[in-house]
Amino acid sequence: MRVVSGIQPTGNLHLGNYLGAIRNWVRMQDTMKDGSECLFFLADLHAISMPHNPADLRAGTLEMTAALVACGIDPAKSVLFNQAQVPAHAELQWLLNGTARMGWLNRMTQFKDKSGQNREGASIALFTYPVLQAADVLLYQATHVPVGDDQKQHLELARDIAQKFNNDFCAEKAPVFTMPEPIVPPEAARIMSLRDGMAKMSKSDPSERSRINLSDDADTIMKAVKKAKSDAEPLPSEKGGLAGRPEAQNLVTIYAAVTGESVDSILRTFGGEGFGKFKPALGEVLIETLAPISKRFNELKQDRESLDAILAKGAAKARELGSPTLKAAYDALGLVRG
Ligand code: TYM
Repeated sequence: MRVVSGIQPTGNLHLGNYLGAIRNWVRMQDTMKDGSECLFFLADLHAISMPHNPADLRAGTLEMTAALVACGIDPAKSVLFNQAQVPAHAELQWLLNGTARMGWLNRMTQFKDKSGQNREGASIALFTYPVLQAADVLLYQATHVPVGDDQKQHLELARDIAQKFNNDFCAEKAPVFTMPEPIVPPEAARIMSLRDGMAKMSKSDPSERSRINLSDDADTIMKAVKKAKSDAEPLPSEKGGLAGRPEAQNLVTIYAAVTGESVDSILRTFGGEGFGKFKPALGEVLIETLAPISKRFNELKQDRESLDAILAKGAAKARELGSPTLKAAYDALGLVRG
């Protein structure tokens, strides 16, 4: 089993990232058997697909490293590294560009969302972004890729690219690439914004009120939860009663994901109660879960030297793990390298 996943080091690590992906990374790391490997990385090469400030990206990469360690990613158990320190990602992307089809990329919803009305002004990197993401996982023969729901389409593309490359360039019994399987949590695959139950919680939302960051203090968390958009109805006592109430649905989903309690059981407790009672209870469980993470994060992010060392060690290991596949891909394509 080979687990691979990444996160862009832009903005703060938020509750959606944590419940949708990072918590699963930690679980998979902690239940890893001998002979298996987890690789987690900062997708800084992906971050340059949108307008960005280089100083913020540099600082964000180290901060996100600290945040991942604070969440429980252990550099002694997992390979934790930064994409730009492993040139094979960009190299393999180029090799896969020969296999990826324009039509496949044209169907990617993220490009449509992020380029918005300004398609002509979008960067080429934003368009070919999913090919780099395919390279990220195929380079390491990933079998499992823990992600939130929004990344499923990119993983399907990675599978299409792998399959076409194997078909076109490899003998039947000697495929270069392994088919990666997305692992999406059943309970928190898509955490929504606290301001709009129809929009995903996201780092790029200009409203700080739309999300809870893992570095937020108790006061900020409680305020954000109390100010979260809800509706005037009391909570239903059964799941079906949440249909058509996206904000209520989201807040209950967050409560369930954070506590591990089922939605049915939560509604047995809070059914008939208004948000005036539910929100403070949700605030409390969030504070309890996030306080230790935020404390560790604030300590770790000061220690620049340790963070640099973690990334250097991780990158050396990642370079070693990726090199046989990169070589096999060059060879399969008939590229002469001496
Ligand atoms: P990114 O940085 O946007 O998000 C990191 C992870 O968090 C998940 N996530 C969410 N899950 C539930 N609810 C939400 N509101 C929410 N917001 C984000 C994402 O699904 C993701 O798992 N393209 C990727 C980074 C990447 C990658 C990869 C991932 C680059 N290469 C290879 C997996 C494998 C991205 O921008 O994720």
